[in-house]
Amino acid sequence: MTEKMLEIEDLKTYFYGDEGVVKAVDGVTITVNKGETVGVVGESGCGKSVTSLSVMRLLQDTPGEIVDGSIKFEGKSLLNLSEKEMRMIRGNDIAMIFQEPMTSLNPVYKIGKQLEEAIKLHLRYDKKKARIHAVNMLNLVGLPRANEVMNEYPHQLSGGMRQRVMIAMAMACNPKLLIADEPTTALDVTIQAQILELMQQLRNESNTSIMLITHDLGVVAEMCDRVVVMYAGEVVEESDVYTLFENPKHPYTKGLIGSVPKLGQDVEKLDSIPGNVPIPTNMPSGCKFAPRCEFAMDICWKKDPVLLETNDKHACRCWLYQDQEKALEV
Ligand SMILES: Nc1ncnc2c1ncn2[C@@H]1O[C@H](COP(=O)(O)OP(=O)(O)O)[C@@H](O)[C@H]1O
Ligand code: SF4
Ligand SMILES: [Mg+2]
Repeated sequence: MTEKMLEIEDLKTYFYGDEGVVKAVDGVTITVNKGETVGVVGESGCGKSVTSLSVMRLLQDTPGEIVDGSIKFEGKSLLNLSEKEMRMIRGNDIAMIFQEPMTSLNPVYKIGKQLEEAIKLHLRYDKKKARIHAVNMLNLVGLPRANEVMNEYPHQLSGGMRQRVMIAMAMACNPKLLIADEPTTALDVTIQAQILELMQQLRNESNTSIMLITHDLGVVAEMCDRVVVMYAGEVVEESDVYTLFENPKHPYTKGLIGSVPKLGQDVEKLDSIPGNVPIPTNMPSGCKFAPRCEFAMDICWKKDPVLLETNDKHACRCWLYQDQEKALEV
């Protein structure tokens, strides 16, 4: 039986601000099995980072709140844990590579000390062994002069170097689950490839589960087993990676992949989808993609379709694939 590592179920994370409620994550369900890499894709503002911050329970400094749903790690709820228990899980069982690297390195400690402390705490290595492991990890993420970097402070490094330190730190402690939020966006292509390879290696050697948030469909194709497509705080499509590229269903996914068929043409390559993600305080009442969808029908403006799993664990939230008449009766 497949062992479930992370189960996010019907998660709702809302922000309460002056402008009203922002339903950043509005009923999201994502499962990551043991040893599996799940990609989470979608444009900016779709709720990908808020989903991962909810898992890590790192919303304290924001006006955000988990208002409903459950998050389980190895079958145990994370939402009932105390901050102290949560701190033991972060960096140990679950490690996260953040989109904003500077916020997660402590500016007053040298890189070496921060890496060593994490390794000593989580892997219970002595100082000497921890130092060797730290330098080794810095080398593995492609940092030049790893030994010198150990004695430097975060502000002495460039943004790209800091990001690599964060990646080294996240991977150094052999987490059971790695959440990587756009981990390589800021890095150049060669380093990016190196980091992705390192993630693959971690997964192959330690059977690590990975939730990989990315804009880059090439990265998804290369790295992921399964893909979850998010739009405006909801999951709109989910399937194995092969099916998603071969047979995307949701108009949004098709737009992302750039293969929406146009009248009179075979397949037109699209660079992007026209229009914008809706303003969170002013969501359309029916399907949230309707204002940008060329297939929008009457019902789309009235009622949000459900995420319906059809065959082969391929799920899609779109009226084109659902019984509209039945829905209108209720
Ligand atoms: N700290 C915050 N305060 C208020 N709103 C926020 C905050 N963080 C994120 N949001 C809102 O939540 C929504 C989802 O954001 P996010 O998860 O960062 O998107 P993504 O990672 O997919 O680009 C956005 O509308 C964003 O404005
Ligand atoms: S439900 Fe309607 S508007 Fe939404 S994606 Fe499907 S066809 Fe387009
Ligand atoms: Mg984000």
